[in-house]
Amino acid sequence: MTYDGLDVEKIRKDFPVFSRELPDGRSLVYLDSGNSSQKPNQVIDTMREHLAIHYSNVGRAMHLLGAESTDAYESARDKVAGFIGAPSRDEVVFTKNASEALNLVAYSFGNPAVTDPRFTLGPGDEIVISEMEHHSNIVPWQLLVQRTGATLKWFGVTDDGRLDYDPGVITERTKIVSIAHQSNVLGTVNPVAEVAARAHEMGALVLLDASQSVPHHPVDVSRLGADLVAFTGHKMVGPSGIGVLWGRAEVLDAMPPFLGGGEMIEAVWMDRSTYAPVPHKFEAGTPPIVEAIGLGAAVDYLTGVGMEAIEAHERTLTAYALDALRELPGLRLIGPDTTEGRGGTLSFTLEGIHPHDVGQILDDHFGVAVRVGHHCARPLHLRFGIPATTRASFYLYNTTGEIDALVRGLHHVQKVFA
Ligand code: ALA
Repeated sequence: MTYDGLDVEKIRKDFPVFSRELPDGRSLVYLDSGNSSQKPNQVIDTMREHLAIHYSNVGRAMHLLGAESTDAYESARDKVAGFIGAPSRDEVVFTKNASEALNLVAYSFGNPAVTDPRFTLGPGDEIVISEMEHHSNIVPWQLLVQRTGATLKWFGVTDDGRLDYDPGVITERTKIVSIAHQSNVLGTVNPVAEVAARAHEMGALVLLDASQSVPHHPVDVSRLGADLVAFTGHKMVGPSGIGVLWGRAEVLDAMPPFLGGGEMIEAVWMDRSTYAPVPHKFEAGTPPIVEAIGLGAAVDYLTGVGMEAIEAHERTLTAYALDALRELPGLRLIGPDTTEGRGGTLSFTLEGIHPHDVGQILDDHFGVAVRVGHHCARPLHLRFGIPATTRASFYLYNTTGEIDALVRGLHHVQKVFA
């Protein structure tokens, strides 16, 4: 089966999970990649081989295995830098996930250790986010304003699930604008360049939560307009336990360390320390070595398939799913109902039926895995006056046949509750 230049049947063979049988002989229909993606043999084998014959600590072991492990870890950094178009490998910081990357940035503000005025924060200063954010891009800022007395502001969301962009929300008091590149619920892709231009005009920094965009679209950080970009490995066919913070070198240099510990220092005395240059300043302690190497393999895999082809394939799936879901009576899509400016994440409600029941029946009777709940975006659900949605999210290995299975399942759910 070839869609838009993507040989999906061949791709599916790379993912061992698709050859397993579910109870009652059903096959797996995995529509939950927005939550976490499946892993190809190329990633699994690379991690296994590293653990088996190359493993040692990195950056501090003066022996053959230490050198091999360090080379593999640092070469994963090169791969990630190339994948996102980072002007320098030193601009790629490995974290444990996107949440840690976002918290790292939040802790830079109002931190007494920081002298750069862009990071000073107190009463009267403002932070701007949006109502469509994942909790990871809300709570760190709430904690920050509690610590500093600064004010948290946000853009709203329109009825059709777009950013309700009002440039007036960003003022000369704004220190940072932190928004999702692509919403994990709505699928909406935000107008980053426009928001960043306004933020920079006002002297504010721009941070993007790109957890839902980097896995699905070609992303070039040098052209996005953002100063800092966070994403995670497990949504892009890599392992969990590894995330990335990319930042412009000059911005990362101005930020204070986040966690203190081994390998993030230059010299330590009993009463003070000096710090290693970036990225190591932000990588205290033994890092997620094998996970970073697995992410490098994931990047190789996605590059081999081609990010343009993956994006085109997901657009085809999204168009197909939007048409198919429209046929279901009582289905309310939460998010844009065209493929314009959106990715392959479709959240919806079925009138009179709780999403938890929808998810359970799809799973039990059809082997269809979707996510149900508020998807760590409760304020967005409150905005739409609903407690929860059912979410189908697509990736390179999904097919239109799987969307048919979802729709068959949803018809069955409606029959059960009729
Ligand atoms: N952020 C992930 C999701 O949307 C966990 O499912």
